[in-house]
Amino acid sequence: MNNNDQPSIHGQWSSRLAFVMAATGSAVGLGNIWKFPYITGENGGSAFVLFYVLCVATLGIPLMMAEVMLGRRGKRTPINAMRALAAETGTSQHWQFIGWSGTLAGVLILSYYSVIGGWTIGYIFHAANGHFSDLSGKGASTLFGDFVGDPWVQIGWHTVFMLITMSIVARGVRHGLEKAVTYLMPALVVLLLVVLGYAMTTGYFMKGLAFLFTPDFSHFSGTSALTALGHAFFTLSLGMGAIMIYGSYVPQKISIAGTSVAIAVADTMVALIAGMAIFPIVFANALEPGAGPSLIFETIPVAFGHMAGGTLFGTLFFVLLLIAAWTSSISLVEPAVTMMIENLNMTRHRAAFWTGLVTWLLGLGTTFSFNVWADVEVLGLTFFEHLDFLTSNLMLPIGGICIALFAGWAMSKHVSRAELNMNSDVGYALWHALIRVIAPIAVSIVLLHAVGAF
Ligand code: TRP
Repeated sequence: MNNNDQPSIHGQWSSRLAFVMAATGSAVGLGNIWKFPYITGENGGSAFVLFYVLCVATLGIPLMMAEVMLGRRGKRTPINAMRALAAETGTSQHWQFIGWSGTLAGVLILSYYSVIGGWTIGYIFHAANGHFSDLSGKGASTLFGDFVGDPWVQIGWHTVFMLITMSIVARGVRHGLEKAVTYLMPALVVLLLVVLGYAMTTGYFMKGLAFLFTPDFSHFSGTSALTALGHAFFTLSLGMGAIMIYGSYVPQKISIAGTSVAIAVADTMVALIAGMAIFPIVFANALEPGAGPSLIFETIPVAFGHMAGGTLFGTLFFVLLLIAAWTSSISLVEPAVTMMIENLNMTRHRAAFWTGLVTWLLGLGTTFSFNVWADVEVLGLTFFEHLDFLTSNLMLPIGGICIALFAGWAMSKHVSRAELNMNSDVGYALWHALIRVIAPIAVSIVLLHAVGAF
């Protein structure tokens, strides 16, 4: 069966740029600005950064190409796309597993992503009310501690974030997304550069750079490797079908390879700039690099609190961060919502409502992880930490292995070659080797090593 000439029933991107923008909007988010710096701090810096960049380049880019390709060929929600592709290639229907696990992973990730998205909304108000003025590192920690310590405040902002996410999803992802990404993402980068400028004045800029880039493997463990790998997938939105569903709206003409490289490069640049902006402020204010999820909320306010116009710029920064989070969160639920539309015959509004409700309820566990359940640990991790480990470090890498295996083994070279439409023979051969052999083996090694298999 080949439905190649038909657009997806959910529509199609208006142009190549629309797809690039939406995929970049999905990739660039809290993962780059909130998560990357804090996990880098927790894992000792440079070696972690090096391994992460290596994973993006050698595993992330080929996998992104594979996901766009499968999506464009399958033209449905990931579950049904995999079902159709399994039928087309004459392989087992069990490949659907990729779609089910990915759809679930998206909902699980969004449940905590929404809580952190809520933090950015709360911080817009802190910034606008001048709470950052002359803030010390210690003052910023107290401000954050009081903020997350109040479960009602947490639930409130989590609710607001879910509502704004689902209001866009209910209308269909293509409306409004393009503009948000075309104008607002560059604005976010400009404001990050403003923070970077401040970081250069702290006197600790070189120390920050050394922390990020001077190779030091002394803090690098098997879990660090898995975290770096998981984050490479997380930051590029890979391993769960988000890029697959966006790929399903891609018109036939677009060059998948060029687009994937561009998205990965842009995404990595944003993360590295965020890291270079944040660590000098950490060291200058005697903050802890391994502080965890609070890291950017303790450093960025200090930066804006010490610059002219900081109230305005600080407010703007968190507004833009919110928008970056928003364009990512939309892609996290799109697989679940399109699944309900296709398989349960629901309207988009109804599907968005139910997915939103379930995700919101799950998110309550994360809101409590930072206050009433902060000390409730199972195997040394809080509810939020378990959810993050399960999704980023297990579900995304395993999803990635399966996607690579399907694209490399189940699909014939003839089909993948035609679908990717690459001019270069060498480029295609490289992609095929990476996806068929290297990615599945490399990801398996890192996974097994981290769980202590050897
Ligand atoms: N990439 C986004 C970020 O870095 C988060 C995200 C959006 C995501 N869609 C995803 C992560 C799908 C994993 C899978 O903030």
